Amino acid sequence: MHMFKTLLSALLLTALSTATIAQQYDKLDLSKQPLANEVCATCHGGAGQGNPVVGGPSLAGLEPWYLRTQLENFRAGIRGSQKDYIPGNEMQASVAKLSDQEINDLVDQIANWEVIENDHSVTGDIAKGETLYAACGACHGATGEGNQALGAPGLAGRNDWYMFRQIKLFKSGYRGNHPDDTAGKLMRPSVQALQSDDDINAVLAYINTLN
Ligand code: HEC
Ligand code: HEC
Repeated sequence: MHMFKTLLSALLLTALSTATIAQQYDKLDLSKQPLANEVCATCHGGAGQGNPVVGGPSLAGLEPWYLRTQLENFRAGIRGSQKDYIPGNEMQASVAKLSDQEINDLVDQIANWEVIENDHSVTGDIAKGETLYAACGACHGATGEGNQALGAPGLAGRNDWYMFRQIKLFKSGYRGNHPDDTAGKLMRPSVQALQSDDDINAVLAYINTLN
């Protein structure tokens, strides 16, 4: 199954070469709800529920201000431009040519999408996770609701497999290391407290209880 998924994902990513993605902009149809364009739906699901095979997280439920920052960061290459991180590169290429107006339209639309409950894939020690989460809550909120003033998004309800990978990316400096990534820099030191995959799974298992 794992090999199959890897193969499928490799095929999909090859099929969606940068050139193909660029051509897909012609197909952007912002008048349809939910966003019925292949540019986003292929990787994030037609209703924004996420697509674990490609690694595109759920978009429904993201705060508009956070969504905007991420789209602008990907467009500018502040996020996703590391050459050997393919999922990030694919996302970067997908939004590199969006205009300000298109970003505004996407943010307006996605903000109205209904949140779809995600399946949980992580198992971990919830009690240990609760202790670890105390430090996270300072920025992401006691119930994982997020904090706009700090630029920290809500975590409750997000795909755990996606958060697992993001924490690894922050730890290794694949995310949050760009000189212009102010919010990412704020996040990076905090994840160093998670010293093992067990710690990460524990904190995510706890976050899964916050939905
Ligand atoms: C080729 C696949 C692909 C396409 C097409 C794509 N994305 Fe993504 N997107 C991803 C992946 C993979 C990630 C996660 C990147 C990472 O791991 O850092 C992502 C991340 C994001 C994030 C960040 C979410 C977060 O919680 O930080 C947003 C927002 C986003 N995409 C919006 C969009 C929108 C809007 C479109 C359409 C204009 C789009 N994406 C098209 C694959 C894609
Ligand atoms: C000092 C404030 C701060 C603390 C403490 C903090 N974070 Fe964050 N976190 C942020 C900010 C700001 C961002 C958004 C970064 C960006 O815009 O790219 C973020 C992003 C994230 C993301 C990525 C969300 C997404 O949609 O891509 C995850 C997952 C996350 N944090 C988990 C945690 C966990 C788990 C902890 C505790 C171990 C933690 N954070 C502690 C500020 C913080």
